[in-house]
Amino acid sequence: MAKSGLDDVVAAETVLSHVDGEGGHLIIRGFALDELAGHVATEQAIALLLHGFFPDLPDRGTLAAALGAARVAVFAEVETSGAGLAQLDPIESVRALMARLDDGDDLDVALKLIAAPAVFTPAMLRLRKGLAPIAPDAALSHAADTLRMLTGDTPSKERAAALDAYLVIVCDHGLNASTFAARVVASTQAGLASAVLAGLSALKGPLHGGAPGPVLDMFDDIGAPENAERWLDDAVMRGERLMGFGHRVYRVRDPRADALKSALRKLAASGGVDDARVAFAEAVEKAALTVLRRRKPGRSLDVNVDFYTVLLLEALGFSRDAFTCVFAMGRVPGWIAHAREQVLEGRLMRPQSRYVGPMPKQAA
Ligand code: CMC
Repeated sequence: MAKSGLDDVVAAETVLSHVDGEGGHLIIRGFALDELAGHVATEQAIALLLHGFFPDLPDRGTLAAALGAARVAVFAEVETSGAGLAQLDPIESVRALMARLDDGDDLDVALKLIAAPAVFTPAMLRLRKGLAPIAPDAALSHAADTLRMLTGDTPSKERAAALDAYLVIVCDHGLNASTFAARVVASTQAGLASAVLAGLSALKGPLHGGAPGPVLDMFDDIGAPENAERWLDDAVMRGERLMGFGHRVYRVRDPRADALKSALRKLAASGGVDDARVAFAEAVEKAALTVLRRRKPGRSLDVNVDFYTVLLLEALGFSRDAFTCVFAMGRVPGWIAHAREQVLEGRLMRPQSRYVGPMPKQAA
């Protein structure tokens, strides 16, 4: 009997990250998530993930400059074909622009793929509003430049730090659906762009990285804290899933949710988040946990990363239909590291299926 959803199937060995679903811990290359989130910049997390997978990987300082140069290089795609794609959903337009980048296995390809969502997402959002895209500034940090390309203003260090924290929190997460997709494609030696596009395509589904936008829709529908429990109970009784809750691996609270809350608190301390919005989200979380315990007893459903993502990305000025693009911005380095690990140490992935259809008549 095949395992539906491949639960508990170990399909790869990795040095990249470990998801401890029972304990609620995430380890990335030997570091607990709390040691990284809020303490290291995106560039450091990228260097950590890519270490050992590219012979010419530069040191952290040079990597930041090389990533800045990659942002400048990929902006050319916006200038040549951005306007025609801007009416698509942001995730579709970003994917279409990323599909125009060269494929291959070298560091230059990798850095352009990492740079791409950071450049394409703000550009697409601005073009859609009738505003001109803003060219990258290679001298800024990856997070600060992304926010500057979105708003036109160099962000405060607190806002850049909040985006850094988010990008680090989501940079890698074991063999989740998108990383698995990326590794399968990498195993055919199709190249890093192909692997990353496979990951992006898997990420956009609402059960994976597509959940944050619908979390915000849920907030809008609930409207006020006193409506939360009734609204959530009705939704569960209609058979709907509460977005931002539940996880295949975590049987306890997703540790990324608390790391995000801590990033939110830091941003709130600088006046960058509406306290009432955080209080509202906390009330919705509390009501959802009550409803899930009542309606799904024994299911260990708790809050996941996507719930508090929405408050952070909303406060940073991203529109809800672009949340998945920002998730991708954080996850591309993880996909690339897994793809390289697969190519260097793995084999072609080729599992079996069990045939359960009819047999030809002569064989019956
Ligand atoms: N709300 C209500 N019920 C739920 C939820 C939820 N969010 N998640 C699972 N359940 C129920 C499900 O209906 C089922 O109940 P029953 O046995 O009565 O039919 C039971 O829990 C087990 O469900 P499952 O389908 O076996 O669970 P799964 O492991 O396949 O689901 C999940 C994992 C993430 C797809 C699911 O929890 C879900 O759909 N969550 C909402 C979407 C979401 O927030 N996704 C982001 C995941 S975290 C970001 C990432 O890393 O991708």
